Amino acid sequence: MEILLTILLVLTRILDFITEPFFKCAAKNKRLYLPPLKNEDILKINATELAKKIRHKKISALEVCKAYIQRIKDVNPILNAIVEDRFREALREAKQVDAYLQKTSLTLEEIEKFKPLLGVPVTVKESCGVKGLSLCCGLLSRKGFTAQTDGEVVAKIKSCGGIILLVSTTPELVISWETWSHVNGYTNNPYNTTCTPGGSSGGEGALLGSAASLVGIGSDIAGSLRLPALFNGVFSHKPTPKVVALKGHWPLGEDPKYQQFLVIGPLTRYACDLRLMMNVMCNDKKCAELKISERVDLKQINIFCIEELHDITQPKVSDSIKKAVNESVKYLTEIKGCKLIKYNFMSFNKAMYICGSELYTLKDIPDALKWENANFWTELVLSIFWKSRFTLNLMYAYVIQKIYQCFVGNYTAKYEEMKQEVLEKLGDNGVIILPTSIGPAHKHNQMFFKNIYAYLILANALGLPASAVPCGLDTNGMPIGVQVIAAPYQDRLCLAVAEELERHFGGWVPPPKKK
Ligand SMILES: *[C@@H]1O[C@H](CO)[C@@H](O)[C@H](O)[C@H]1NC(C)=O
Ligand SMILES: *[C@@H]1O[C@H](CO)[C@@H](O)[C@H](O)[C@H]1NC(C)=O
Ligand SMILES: *[C@@H]1O[C@H](CO)[C@@H](O)[C@H](O)[C@H]1NC(C)=O
Ligand SMILES: *[C@@H]1O[C@H](CO)[C@@H](O)[C@H](O)[C@H]1NC(C)=O
Repeated sequence: MEILLTILLVLTRILDFITEPFFKCAAKNKRLYLPPLKNEDILKINATELAKKIRHKKISALEVCKAYIQRIKDVNPILNAIVEDRFREALREAKQVDAYLQKTSLTLEEIEKFKPLLGVPVTVKESCGVKGLSLCCGLLSRKGFTAQTDGEVVAKIKSCGGIILLVSTTPELVISWETWSHVNGYTNNPYNTTCTPGGSSGGEGALLGSAASLVGIGSDIAGSLRLPALFNGVFSHKPTPKVVALKGHWPLGEDPKYQQFLVIGPLTRYACDLRLMMNVMCNDKKCAELKISERVDLKQINIFCIEELHDITQPKVSDSIKKAVNESVKYLTEIKGCKLIKYNFMSFNKAMYICGSELYTLKDIPDALKWENANFWTELVLSIFWKSRFTLNLMYAYVIQKIYQCFVGNYTAKYEEMKQEVLEKLGDNGVIILPTSIGPAHKHNQMFFKNIYAYLILANALGLPASAVPCGLDTNGMPIGVQVIAAPYQDRLCLAVAEELERHFGGWVPPPKKK
C-alpha cells in the first residue's frame, strides 16, 4: 500500500517545481539585513579558547556576557529567535564568575576539569527546559507555562559554569522543519530573512549563524539539530542515543523507543567546541565509553560517500551540496589519507519508507489534538485557511503520521537488515559523508513542497551519531554543508572529521552586510 505514499511524494516534487517561482516572487524586496558585528574580538573567539581566556583572567566573563547580549539585542528584532531571556540573571552570574576567579584556591587545571564552561554564554532551545523560563513550545494552550526545574542537561551546563542567556524558538510542539508558531510568529534566517532557519532547533540555528550565540543546546528526533545547522552555516552534533540525558525535555513520549530517536545535542559556531560540549553534556559513565577526547588517526578511517539518494520520490540534491560532498571526500581521502571505500548502500534509497515506518512504530507520540479534544479534519481544513489554533505545520505532521500508520506496510524486517548492513560496514572506523539535506535554506512555508527528511531521518532511525558540517556559501550566499555519520559510540570520528573539514572549507562565515 506504499503506493499512496509514493504518489504523494511524487506529487510533492511536481508541486515544488510549479510553486518555486511563486515563493521567489512573493519574497522579493522583503529582505532585511543584520547590522554588522561589533565586538568582533570577543564574538569571534571559539568557546574552548574563550573559557581558557576567562579562567586565565585575560578577559572578564562580564565583558563577554555583555558583548553577546548586545549582539542578541541587535539581531533579534530581525530574526525573532527568542522566546524568553534571562539577561539580568546572566549578567549577575557573570559578575560572580569574575569575583570567584579572584578568590578561588583551585588551580587552573582544576577549574578546567570541574568547570570547563566557566563564564561561557550558552543559549538553549525552549524544549530543553530552563527553570523559570517559558516551556510553552509554540502551543497556544500552553502559553505562560514555565519550566519548574532545569532539564538534566541544562543543569549540567550550569554546574560546569555555563551562563544561560535565553530560551530560543521552536515550531509548535517542536515538530516541524521550519520554525514558526502562533505563539512566537516566524523565526528568520540570518543569511536571507525571506528564508526559514529550519527546524525544530531553528531559534538556536538563527542565533548561532548570526554570531548572537557561540554554543547552543538543541534536540533532534528527525533532523532537528542538523537541518538548522545546515541552513544557518554552523556545526551540530546528534549524539549516539542515550548518552545525553533527555530528562526535562518537553515533549517526551513514554515509549522507551523514544530514547532511540530523540536526542539532545550541541550546536556550535566552531568545530572544536562540539567536543567541549559533548564532554559537558554526556552522562559520566557514557562519556568514558565515547572517548570523546581521544585523538583520531585519520589514516585509519574508512570513508563511504553518498552524493544523492536514487528514488523517484527523492528530490534532486542541489549541485552546490553535491559538490561539497564530493570535495569533502576528495580532501579527506587524497590529502588526509583516509581510505575511500566504494560501496553502495542500496537500502538508503528507500530510507523514506524504511526509516519513516520505523519512526511511526513509536507509541504514544505526543498528541496535541487529543489533549485539546480537537477534531483532526476540522483543524486540518481550518489550518489551511490559517484559521485554526494549530499551525498548518503541525497538521502536516499529523497527515504524514496517518499516512505511515494507515498505508505503509511493515518494514521491520527490512529495517533490521538495513541496520545490520550499516553497522557491519561502518565498524569502529567507518564514516559516511552524505548531504545533510537536499539543498540550502528554502523560503518560509515552502517545506510542504520539499521532501527534505530522507537524509536526516536515517541517523535517528538507525541510532547513529551524526554531525552537520558547514562547507561555505553557495552562489546565492546561502550556507551549504555535509553530514558525517558513524557507528554508535564512534561520535569522536564525526567530530574529528568535522574539525578537519572546518580547516579545509573555513567553517562558519558571518552573514552578509547590506551592500
Ligand atoms: C534572498 O532574498 C531576496 C529577496 O530580496 C531574493 O531575491 C533572493 O533570491 C533570496 N535568496 C535566496 C537564496 O533565496
Ligand atoms: C580556537 O581559537 C584559538 C584562538 O583563535 C585558535 O588558536 C584555535 O586553533 C581554535 N581552536 C580550534 C580547535 O579551532
Ligand atoms: C567527484 O566528482 C568527480 C568528477 O565528477 C568524480 O570523478 C569523482 O568520482 C567524484 N568523487 C566521489 C568520491 O564521488
Ligand atoms: C512486523 O513484522 C515483524 C516481523 O518481521 C513482526 O515481528 C512485527 O510484529 C510486525 N509489526 C506489526 C505492527 O505488524
